[in-house]
Amino acid sequence: MSQLDNFAARGDSVLSPVLSHFTRLNIASGKGSYLVDVNDTAYLDFTAGIAVASTGHCHPDVVEAIQRQAETLIHACAGVVYYGPNVTLAEKLGSLLGYDLTSCFFTQSGTEAMEACLKMAKYVTGKHKILAFTGGFHGRTMGSLSVTSSKDKYRDGFGPMLDGVTFFPFPYEYRSPWESTPDTFDDVAVSQLEAFFETIGDDYAAAIIEPILGEGGYVPASSAFLKALRRLCTEKGMLLIFDEIQTGMGRTGAWFNFHHHDVIPDIIGLAKGIASGLPLGVCISTPELMAKFSTGAHGGTYGGNPICCQAALATIEVLDQCLHDISRKSHMAFSQLRLQLDGHPNVGDIRGQGLMIGVEVVKDVTTREPDAKMVQTIMTKAAEQGLLIVSCGIHGNVLRLMPPLTISDDELAEGLTILVSVFDECRS
Ligand SMILES: Cc1ncc(COP(=O)(O)O)c(C=O)c1O
Repeated sequence: MSQLDNFAARGDSVLSPVLSHFTRLNIASGKGSYLVDVNDTAYLDFTAGIAVASTGHCHPDVVEAIQRQAETLIHACAGVVYYGPNVTLAEKLGSLLGYDLTSCFFTQSGTEAMEACLKMAKYVTGKHKILAFTGGFHGRTMGSLSVTSSKDKYRDGFGPMLDGVTFFPFPYEYRSPWESTPDTFDDVAVSQLEAFFETIGDDYAAAIIEPILGEGGYVPASSAFLKALRRLCTEKGMLLIFDEIQTGMGRTGAWFNFHHHDVIPDIIGLAKGIASGLPLGVCISTPELMAKFSTGAHGGTYGGNPICCQAALATIEVLDQCLHDISRKSHMAFSQLRLQLDGHPNVGDIRGQGLMIGVEVVKDVTTREPDAKMVQTIMTKAAEQGLLIVSCGIHGNVLRLMPPLTISDDELAEGLTILVSVFDECRS
């Protein structure tokens, strides 16, 4: 590798160390489920750029849509004029979401989508308190950071957070925040939530939740819990915000995770897989609620950029072709993992939904002590064997698998076989 191609070494002197890196790979290109480095080594990418490259790398239809739009209109600002891709995408998202969630405010990133969701909830209710959940991740700007608790590191050193945020334990069954009782975990979680709601006043604007904790460890909340949260929010006059930045756009086998639960949020935030890697986020609500978010109260220069919107429209068309198959692929992945990792002394839990799969690694399955070090070793060894995976979790001890949704059965099986063989080498 030439000095010029050693991006990691060159980056050391010019890129801020504040951005952490999972690997030091020097990537030249991407195609489908693979990233290719400067030495022409291909890596099966089970990270999809952290659940973003949902259609794989450089899907030809997405590339074509971007090229076509780049020749037509790059930017005019959605706050200055109206243009087709922006409105067409809003119409499309509304039809996919259903339930009158048809009014869109576009942003450039996930954190800005969540800022918009939070600002909107405060503005339209005239209240400022927010209920968030432990282990949640909603972004790194000061508003979304204030409702984030997945890692102390994200918050430490930044001074006071937004006032009025309360955290309630996320229903994390493997690491239950509540004493065990003869009742089922779901029953306990719901009754704890009900008891908590009895203690709070009417001054909460909203509750914000990821239906599956992403950064916090790929932990799904049950339908029972989400339904109870919906009911309690309505009773208290609070809005319910779903952060579907990671779970949305087909990742869990339905267009949006809330479709699995029959729980309808008032506001939803999307980003990541929406535009196959072009920067786009969106805050969506009902026209009735959005009408109360008065014109000019929020805005932005780049949100809903024509190229990003065209990339999103092409992404949706590609995903439409593979959505019906996600549950089957998911079943295949979970079956292979459960069959081959069952009984491994360091595999504590395998969980998730669709192609959002977490493997929680522990020092001992009885004590459940997290093993973040083994996760690091597994990531390194997997990369050496051509498989890219990254970690998550409040203790950094969960491997998260989020391959492109277009992944073939053979690629999926190949990646899982590598992962299982690496697990076989790593036992404590
Ligand atoms: C659930 C969730 N919300 C918000 C964000 C923030 O998105 P972004 O990194 O685009 O700001 C992320 C990013 O990982 C996320 O997973």
